[in-house]
Amino acid sequence: MIIAVDGPTASGKGTIASAIAAHFGLPHLDTGLLYRAVGRQVQLAGADPDNSGDALAAADFPDSLLSDPELRSEAIGGLASRVSIHPEVRAALLERQRAFARQESGAVLDGRDIGTVICPDAEVKLFVTASLDARTDRRFAEMQAQGRDITRAEVREQIERRDERDMNRKDAPLKPASDAFVLDTTALDKTASITAAIEVVENAR
Ligand code: C5P
Repeated sequence: MIIAVDGPTASGKGTIASAIAAHFGLPHLDTGLLYRAVGRQVQLAGADPDNSGDALAAADFPDSLLSDPELRSEAIGGLASRVSIHPEVRAALLERQRAFARQESGAVLDGRDIGTVICPDAEVKLFVTASLDARTDRRFAEMQAQGRDITRAEVREQIERRDERDMNRKDAPLKPASDAFVLDTTALDKTASITAAIEVVENAR
């Protein structure tokens, strides 16, 4: 069984995807990490994320980069969103994602275009979303817990900028697949979101 989990930044899709993978005993790939590694590689090379040639060269990153703690930073998230606009970069990362999905055990993949482009035949497609305010509150609380010096307004703006870029790019824009189940977690806490997601998968089995 292939389970595709897509959604905007700070929607809770990563948490939900990991919980589903643990519950059903499936391997999980956070595909955002691949784009983040490309962004990090661009940064390390002092290259230009908006130049498709530079970004494509960075798509050939060493596997060791995937465990770089910097990958989780907002700066790298922003770079990831810029390099992911280039169709050449998306094409370079495609086969790696499909190979992961083809494992005999089945798999859970989360990202932006899993249900639409990477695994259009996935048995279960979840599109996890939440209002801009709810996502801002969650991300802001996370950052405050990390002792980060940032205002709520700045966090909101970062999220809006990322949404705008991810939804309006020409190649593989962020949108629910026509056959996706849309899970709006605005009014749900973490436990309730996970329970709801597991129920969707159970019903699809
Ligand atoms: O999910 P995460 O925030 O780690 O993703 C970082 C960026 O990578 C996203 O904003 C998006 O631009 C890009 N991405 C993508 N396709 C995916 C996963 C991530 O374009 N499947």
